[in-house]
Amino acid sequence: MSGRLSGKSAMITGAARGIGRAFAEAYVQEGATVAIADIDLARAAATATELGSSAFPVHIDVSDQASIEAAVEACVRQAGGIDILINNAAIFDLAPIVEITRQSYQRIFDINVGGTLFTLQAVAKQMIAQGRGGKIINMASQAGRRGEPLVGVYCASKAAVISLTQSAGLDLIKHGINVNGIAPGVVGSEMWDEVDALFARYENRPLGEKKRLVGEAVPFGRMGKAEDLTGMAIFLATAEADYIVAQTYNVDGGNWMS
Ligand SMILES: NC(=O)c1ccc[n+]([C@@H]2O[C@H](COP(=O)([O-])OP(=O)(O)OC[C@H]3O[C@@H](n4cnc5c(N)ncnc54)[C@H](O)[C@@H]3O)[C@@H](O)[C@H]2O)c1
Repeated sequence: MSGRLSGKSAMITGAARGIGRAFAEAYVQEGATVAIADIDLARAAATATELGSSAFPVHIDVSDQASIEAAVEACVRQAGGIDILINNAAIFDLAPIVEITRQSYQRIFDINVGGTLFTLQAVAKQMIAQGRGGKIINMASQAGRRGEPLVGVYCASKAAVISLTQSAGLDLIKHGINVNGIAPGVVGSEMWDEVDALFARYENRPLGEKKRLVGEAVPFGRMGKAEDLTGMAIFLATAEADYIVAQTYNVDGGNWMS
């Protein structure tokens, strides 16, 4: 199949559903071979089947070093190498500052920050060994641009992703590896349904209200869809983005300017 990513192998974490799944679908359409890497192997397998023979499932728990290494090995074995990584897997939680638990903090940082760093590290080592450069895309968030009262830990984790994207981008460009990030605004995924339910509890709202309000507040006029992000994810993985280093792009309908 010909396309902008023809002949490329991509590993996308958290690709069983949501934004990661949309990235995987778009990458397959552009000719890439895509590893659907997720902690939910059954759903990753179902997604891979839906996307066709260019997609394959891989189990990964990005908070576990042995699992990261096994997943990278599996990708290399099945696809012959890794040219593109999207660090997309993440979790969300919500609590007022005085109710944040160490357990919630630890889990969010292990997955969102440690998962991004150590998956990036394992794939970067592989890319350096391959000697043909590569593209790494980290999923940040508008939440990483500014704190929010109930979202302290998640916001801090995404600010850390933006910072790591800068450091890794600057360190790895000498190997021809571009590290950049995407900061979505609000995207109508299953994750946002879970976020909405948490806001309903903490802000005493009916279910669905928070989601509706944040969607209405987007300058574009609606909540984002996963498909709104795929253009940037494809572009950053192509040679057209070779001169782009250590940046995080807002793709958020105008919510944030930086
Ligand atoms: N949905 C939004 O509004 C929004 C906004 C800004 C940024 N983002 C970011 O975009 C990315 C995708 O978000 P989404 O809405 O599609 O999320 P989602 O919750 O729908 O999907 C996340 C996927 O990650 C997987 N996952 C969770 N923990 C994992 C682990 N330890 N190891 C491997 N996989 C794991 C889940 O099984 C799931 O398939 C995330 O990084 C998220 O923070 C989302």
